[in-house]
Amino acid sequence: MMRQAGRFLPQYRALRARHDFLTLCKTPSLAAEVTAQPVDILGVDAAIVFADILLVPEAMGVALRFARGDGPQLEPPVRSSADLDKLSRPDVARSLGYVFETVAEVRRALGTRVPVIGFAGTPWTVAAYLVEGGAAKSFHHLLGWSHRDPAGLARLLARIAEVTHDYLLGQIEAGAQALQLFDTWGGLLDPERFRTLALPALLRALEGLSGRVPLIYYGRGTSHLLPLLRELPIEVLSVDWRLPLDVVRAQIGPRQVLQGNLDPAALLAPPVQIERAVRALVAAGSGGPHIINLGHGMLPMTPVEHACAFVEAAKTHGRCSVPARAR
Ligand code: CP3
Repeated sequence: MMRQAGRFLPQYRALRARHDFLTLCKTPSLAAEVTAQPVDILGVDAAIVFADILLVPEAMGVALRFARGDGPQLEPPVRSSADLDKLSRPDVARSLGYVFETVAEVRRALGTRVPVIGFAGTPWTVAAYLVEGGAAKSFHHLLGWSHRDPAGLARLLARIAEVTHDYLLGQIEAGAQALQLFDTWGGLLDPERFRTLALPALLRALEGLSGRVPLIYYGRGTSHLLPLLRELPIEVLSVDWRLPLDVVRAQIGPRQVLQGNLDPAALLAPPVQIERAVRALVAAGSGGPHIINLGHGMLPMTPVEHACAFVEAAKTHGRCSVPARAR
């Protein structure tokens, strides 16, 4: 489940009342504890390491703050080629080594119970936060730069891609058994500009990783990019809820596993309806291998019993409908 650790779990909130978010991320014993919470409480089939996509720009020398209610803030924002000089080229073992320690600690704690998924943002999505200085509505700084000086923005994306590559590799070496790339803002681009601007940096970040562990790409609002996404060097394409899975499958062909794509708001309905939604989801995904998942992050107000109902329905209706070739 996307964003399964944290936000909606009372056990997470209790820890969070005592430590701020970045302290949790940077203290491997605490981060490992949060990572394991949804495995114990919800019974999910995988743990996703507790960290954040914005730890990468922080490691590049930009100050990161999570202000209550305002979302993340990055200071100073990077808005031109000249600003690139402000970014450092971090040694990830030193600046992000705490995430690698968390991965190793979670692996030790979970043993063979469930696999551990590592993750990063795609260079484009990390750039979106770095250029805007945080969460944004119109993304006019990012998109303005992309039209004014695409070569300059491509240099920023390449810088992020270098760090992301080392960061992903470090997570594999620490024991991550799959990696998920979050492209929350990939859908801002039209296909041609996705191909020329976002894609080269994404491919650089993934260079040499294919075949080491399964790679999952998550795109939000990227239905118009499916002809490009079907060519990515990944095993799993994770999609949001905007298109039914059978429609996605018809567009991407048989090669990739599909992951998704229940609307997170569906978990606000009563459990009987959640079960019905999961049955429909399984039917829509039955044209190929499918990992049952949400189409975006858990909403913070989701009742824990509803999240449990989702997992239970997935286990009841999921396994038996997996096509033989995907087992
Ligand atoms: O999935 C998990 O449970 C593992 C941990 C994880 C977090 N963030 C922890 C977190 C993961 C995989 C992420 C990914 C992430 N972070 C994305 C991509 C996925 C998506 O949701 O689109 C993005 C865009 C971010 C950036 C980010 N981090 C934002 C916009 C925010 C603030 C708003 C929010 O979602 O709550 C965060 C903070 C954050 N990251 C929290 C958690 C548990 C909430 C922090 C808190 O406890 O106050």
